[in-house]
Parts: sequence; structure tokens; C-alpha cells
Amino acid sequence: MFDNNIYNDWGFKESPFSTKPLHSNETGDNLLVGRDDDIRKLALKLVSSDAAVCLDGPVGAGKTSLANVTIYKGMRNFLEKGVPSPLLLPCARTFQIKPEQSADDLKFEILIEVAQALIDNACKFQYGIKIAGSIEMNAWLNSPLINQWGEGVATILANGDGGQVNEGAGFSKSGFEKVLTNWLGKIFPDGRNGGVVCVIDNLELLEKSAEARKKIENLRDTLLTIQGIKWILCGAHGILQGVITSPRLAGYLQEPLPIKPLTLKDAGELVNRRVSFFRMECGPTPYLPLSNGDFHTLYTILQHNLRICLSYAEDYCMHISMRGLKPNSEAEKSQIFFSWLKERAKGIYEGMRPHAGQTAINLLCLAASSSDMGGEFSPGDYEKLGFSSLQAMRPHVKTLEDCGALSAQKDDLDQRRKTISITGKGWLIYWYKVTLAQD
Ligand SMILES: Nc1ncnc2c1ncn2[C@@H]1O[C@H](COP(=O)(O)OP(=O)(O)O)[C@@H](O)[C@H]1O
Ligand SMILES: [Mg+2]
Repeated sequence: MFDNNIYNDWGFKESPFSTKPLHSNETGDNLLVGRDDDIRKLALKLVSSDAAVCLDGPVGAGKTSLANVTIYKGMRNFLEKGVPSPLLLPCARTFQIKPEQSADDLKFEILIEVAQALIDNACKFQYGIKIAGSIEMNAWLNSPLINQWGEGVATILANGDGGQVNEGAGFSKSGFEKVLTNWLGKIFPDGRNGGVVCVIDNLELLEKSAEARKKIENLRDTLLTIQGIKWILCGAHGILQGVITSPRLAGYLQEPLPIKPLTLKDAGELVNRRVSFFRMECGPTPYLPLSNGDFHTLYTILQHNLRICLSYAEDYCMHISMRGLKPNSEAEKSQIFFSWLKERAKGIYEGMRPHAGQTAINLLCLAASSSDMGGEFSPGDYEKLGFSSLQAMRPHVKTLEDCGALSAQKDDLDQRRKTISITGKGWLIYWYKVTLAQD
């Protein structure tokens, strides 16, 4: 009962619809579709400047995956070519700035991962390549510190909160930082040599760009200037635009790289790629209850939010399996899939109806159908959305936000920033309204 999940029964090693970001590893590299141009630009930005790279794009579009896989490709490139190619080393995880966390705690949390990245990768490199011409790099790989630190950092990690350092292992917090920065400076004496790349993710969760700005400003002198660490900051809803205008950060952040959702063609390719990657070698022929065309249409309905699209596909697979169904032909799959989706959308719509009046629904539909808004609008757009003032529009935005159809970021800096966006639920409600009208 516990040994097989639904995907095993359908011939897969694991779910082809996982919503996790792709990692900085070979699997991530294999699963990433499209993005050739973005990878090229991101790589150039990473190796050409010491300033942090900013990725600005909608939630669920693939920013974290793009960052992770590009870093991995940078490491592979070095493994193939050696010095003088720059070496980009990935951290095992990405970081998120929590409102309540102090700059010092965040710094320590990140430095531990950076040390870990150096240690983990040292083993890989020791056997993998000749690092001719780099005395510093050889010193790193052959340093007895690697073993010592292997234990030390593990101990620090085991302590959990990052606040306590096991003095017995020979490290104090400041001593640790000193040795690490010294080490980084030697391995990566210049930005052109590369660095350990840290991704600070989901800046939009800080909501206010003033808050995000303050937090990044606080990192300026403690983290952003450490030689040998490179930075990628990811944010949605234009939050990075508010951050880069800070005079205190001038020269520390590069102009954001806009990341667009995957094209329809690439989204279709994503399913093929995952099916061939996750299929069992000696299992049954892989089976999925929805066709590529269905996934394609779902991606369109959800306005190219890949994460939500994958999550609905997964929900649907669960639904089919729980009912013991197994549609086979494309037509049968589509028919069952879309009646399920309609039921889902209807449920969401009817659940919202007692709370949201006609004005709120109209606001949602107008924002969804406006081609120049693309599902995102700013408080200043009230006239385009049929209101005489911002005050008149505000309660309806609030209602839709409470129902989960809109996500609104509070912003105190710029009334024009597109801080209100339609969520997956919102798009589904809109689709339901439109298809109902056509029925
Ligand atoms: N280029 C891509 N190829 C294949 N899958 C992708 C790609 N970009 C994103 N994904 C998948 O889409 C989902 C959302 O990606 P993620 O990187 O988390 O988006 P974001 O960071 O913009 O919110 C994840 O499940 C990820 O695996
Ligand atoms: Mg992300």
C-alpha cells in the first residue's frame, strides 16, 4: 500500500508534475526547457560584473530554476575547460529574507552554506579536473582545512539556529567568518574568477519595496561586498524596481533582467521532457490521464503560470487515480480533464459569490481581459477598471484578495507599480465566466 505511488503505477519513477524549482544539478539541467537566451544573458551578467544580478518576473515563471541551472552550467563549463574559465559554484539551497530575521543572522546562515558549498565541491574537483595554473585553487583543494571544516560546518548546521558555534570544534563565529572570507578571497581573487553563487529568492514576499530595499541595503556592506560570493536576487511584481532605485545600492545591483513565462511551445516540451526523464526503465509504458494538448490549454487558461499549471495537473492526476479511472484516447482524456477543471472552477466561483458582489467580479473580468494589463495592474489604474477613484476601487480589490482571486502587495513608494495581480484561482474564475457565457 505504501510502496507504490500513483506515478509508479503509471510507469514513472516520480511525479512528472512536481512544482519544485529545478536544482543546480544534472537533473535540473536535463529538465530545463527553453531559456537559451536567458541563460546566455544571466551567465554574461554573472561573470562580467561584481554587482548582484536581479531577475524580475512573474511568480511561477521559472526564475529560481533558471538561476539554479545557469549556475550549474557555469560549474560544468569550468569542469570541462578549467582555468582561466570562471568557476561558478552553487549553494545547496536558495535563501529567503524573512522580515523578522536580523541581517547578522541571515549573513551567518548564508556563510555556512557558502562554506558547505566549498567543501562539498572540493571533493568533486579534487578528482575531476586538473586545475593547472591556480595555486590558490590547489591550496583550497589540498587544504587540511577542508576536512576540518567538513566536520565544523556540519556541527554548526546541526546546531540548527545558526546562532551557536561549537567552540569545541575550533570555530568562533567571527573566526569562522574570517577564515571563510580569507579563503574565498584566495580562491576567487577577482570577480572574473567566478565565485560561490547565492540566490536570494522571493523578494516579493517582503511586500513593500521600501522593506525589501531596507533589507538589501543592510546586506550591502556585510554580504554583498564579500569577494568570492556572487549574488542573484529574484523578485516578482516589480519589487526589484523599487530596490534598485536606492542610492545606497547604486553600483551594487545590476539592472534587472526581465524573465518572461515560458512560451507555449516550451511548456508543451516540458511535459515530453519530464515523461522521458522520469519513465521507469523496465516499467509499463508511461501513462498520463491528460494529453500534451490539455496541459497546453491549462497553461493558457492559467496565463502561463507554470507552477500553478503543474500543481493543477498533479491534482487532476490524483483525482483520476482516486476514482480508479483511466481515460485512454486523447478525446476521452480531454473530455474528463475539462469537465473536472470546470467543476473546480465552478466550486471556486460559487464559493466566492456570497462574498464578492457583481462590481468585484466585473473588476476581475475587466483586468483579466485587458490586453495591456496582462493580469497585473496598479492602484493608479482605477479609471481603466471603471472606478472614479482609488478609494472606490479599494474595497473590491480587498474582497477579491480575501477570496484568493487577486494578490495585492502593499506599496508605499509608487502608486504606479503593478502591485495587484490575478492569481491562478482568479484566472480560473475568469475562464469559468467566459466559457459559461459561451455555453
Ligand atoms: N525552463 C523550465 N523548464 C522546465 N521546467 C521549469 C522551467 N522553469 C520552471 N520550471 C518549473 O516550473 C515551476 C516553477 O518554477 P520556479 O523556478 O519555481 O519559478 P519562480 O522562481 O519564477 O517562481 C517549477 O516546478 C519548475 O520546476
Ligand atoms: Mg522562485
